[in-house]
Amino acid sequence: MTSEQKSAPPPVTNDWDPSIQTNQADPFSIHRQLRAKCPVAHSTQWGGFWTLTKYEDIRAVGVDKDHYTATVRTIVPSSPRSGLPRLPLQADQPLLGVYRKALSPWFSDPYTLRLEPNVRALAVELLEPLVGGHEADVVGGFTEPFTVRALCTFLGMDDREADRLRELSLTYVEAIQAQDMKSASGISREIDGFAISLVEDRKANPGDPRTDVTTGLLQMDMNGTRFTDTEVAGMVRLSLIGGHIVPKNYLGSVVRHLAENPDLIATLRDQPSLIPDAIEEMLRLYSPNQALARTTTCPVEIRGQRIEADEPVALLFLSANRDEDIFEAPDDFRLGRKQKHIAFGYGQHSCIGQQFARMQARVTVEELVRRVSSIEIAGPVSNAVWPEYGVAGMRARLNPHIA
Ligand code: HEM
Repeated sequence: MTSEQKSAPPPVTNDWDPSIQTNQADPFSIHRQLRAKCPVAHSTQWGGFWTLTKYEDIRAVGVDKDHYTATVRTIVPSSPRSGLPRLPLQADQPLLGVYRKALSPWFSDPYTLRLEPNVRALAVELLEPLVGGHEADVVGGFTEPFTVRALCTFLGMDDREADRLRELSLTYVEAIQAQDMKSASGISREIDGFAISLVEDRKANPGDPRTDVTTGLLQMDMNGTRFTDTEVAGMVRLSLIGGHIVPKNYLGSVVRHLAENPDLIATLRDQPSLIPDAIEEMLRLYSPNQALARTTTCPVEIRGQRIEADEPVALLFLSANRDEDIFEAPDDFRLGRKQKHIAFGYGQHSCIGQQFARMQARVTVEELVRRVSSIEIAGPVSNAVWPEYGVAGMRARLNPHIA
């Protein structure tokens, strides 16, 4: 053994385990304890990793180009690296900037808002049959098909492709919920295959590059060079799952929050200008990307805790957004906070799809409060599991609003 190996024994403390049932069901209690007593926490789960729980620490990592990389893993437990790279998420600067710039036309405000009528029509089509005195499947009937179909419209995919993506992602979510990582990684390879075949198809049959993201990326001239097929497939691949599962879990939390706060339904119906603020506050409280990860490229010290090089570090957004040093009464829903939540991350990798996600959420709440007077949850709600957060399954009665 070399002296270098001897000098860096792995930490053995097990300050927390996000995978145990009590922490999955109520993550907020353990997050609160960690922020107070062990803000830079180590877990021996999944080969060992660190967790940052405080808002300022996570923001500092978000803008730090020198001590962390996103190229090793972006989630804990790490997904196998044999498949397509998830771009731009698994890239560092300067390539990160190149990919983000290439994607930016489709993620801009004007492009996103242009899709609003289609997204609204979809919301109405799916919501109307659910409203009435009967028990409805909120996730299977609304949040899941709504977010997949909205994403396919966004990416410029046809109905057949949308059906295939939906099928793949349903199986993927089932495996993740059951914590069956072997099956999940097999399905993940199939989703890679789906992204690769999208690229092959658009090379043979180009779509409109303005509205078909795959065609647009393939044809993009980057100062005289083009992206490789793998780069294009990697850019599309990231949104295929992240672009709808995260919004699905979040919209489930929104419906649950409205069910638990019936007065809010009437308030938002009477004053729709409050809806964007309500959406931000629910993003803060129920951040659906519970945690994403980086890897240290050299030893770092945070709040007196040394972390060696090559260590996974989870950025616990869900905890940061309830940090009592930043947010007064952090567990309360309050309209009118000056919002500075980091549910969309912070810094170099902050969510490029945030305007689209906000639009979907606004349209959902507008159409819901217009039609519904109260929501009664029927039966147990199932929660999304680490590293996600939100509602994975819920049945409810959506009682109609009679004007
Ligand atoms: C409520 C909905 C959403 C939430 C809360 C959310 C959250 C996040 C977060 C926290 C990150 C930062 C990752 C990091 O720092 O490691 C991220 C990145 C990203 N998100 Fe979202 N997201 C949402 C919806 C979407 C949608 C709808 C799309 C696509 C249509 C999307 C595409 C992306 C992409 C491409 C990145 C990578 C950006 C980069 O690495 O530079 N997201 N998202």
